[in-house]
Amino acid sequence: MTTLNQGIIQEAASYILEKAGSKPEVGLILGSGLGILADHIENAVVLDYADIPHFPKSTVEGHAGELVLGTVGGRQVVLMKGRFHMYEGYGPEVTAFPVRVMKALGAGKLLVTNAAGGVNTSFHPGDLMLISDHLNMTGQSPLTGPNDNELGPRFPDMSEAYSRRLRTLAKEIAKEHDIPLQEGVYAGLIGPAYETPAEIRMLRTLGADAVGMSTVSEVIVARHAGLEVLGISCISNMASGILDQPLSHDEVMETTERVKEKFLGLVTSIIPKL
Ligand code: 6GU
Repeated sequence: MTTLNQGIIQEAASYILEKAGSKPEVGLILGSGLGILADHIENAVVLDYADIPHFPKSTVEGHAGELVLGTVGGRQVVLMKGRFHMYEGYGPEVTAFPVRVMKALGAGKLLVTNAAGGVNTSFHPGDLMLISDHLNMTGQSPLTGPNDNELGPRFPDMSEAYSRRLRTLAKEIAKEHDIPLQEGVYAGLIGPAYETPAEIRMLRTLGADAVGMSTVSEVIVARHAGLEVLGISCISNMASGILDQPLSHDEVMETTERVKEKFLGLVTSIIPKL
């Protein structure tokens, strides 16, 4: 249940604005191994999550736990280097708290990325997938409990959670840069165990193309707050039961390492045009 109120969000936002002195237009959340964009932010101000009032603490390796403010291609951005996951024990409203802070900072758009398992058997590790829609398979929502009407509506519309306009834009930019882009539905689960082959067959039957352990709660809160969302998955491995090999976090990190330049090229081209 949420103990959230606007005062808490504002305290985090005020601290960040005071330190950074710039108002971001675009929020960026980068998944496992994809934090490299942080190194390409101009005039970067780096804040430890631990120093930001009310920010949760990040616990997973490969997730730095820093908020970076600055510009990418002339665009003011706020970037989360490392995110919070439900498998760490956080409730969905905690994992999405930084999205509310981004909104309070002035952001109107959110670009979310993640590493995901390929459920669609035509995908390959290293593919990038534009998220067209999601399946919230966490069994929870970040919006349960009393609704603060100042933050958003009680019953937010999710019929275009991932902006059609931004998806069209991303496809055009990918084409211009000769970067192949898959498109599909992302199923978000709590983890931390990877799925069984039976679960992956179930998810495929339900319409999933990729599966991961993040993003859905952040996007629900982003839509509640009225942010326009663009989502991109890096297919880091095939989900279980597709290839005759076990899944490992090492493979996830190896693949994201391999594709990070392609990924970086795509997102740095998109950001100025969002
Ligand atoms: Cl196969 N499943 C989940 N839940 N998350 C992942 C993954 C698979 N591959 C990368 N992240």
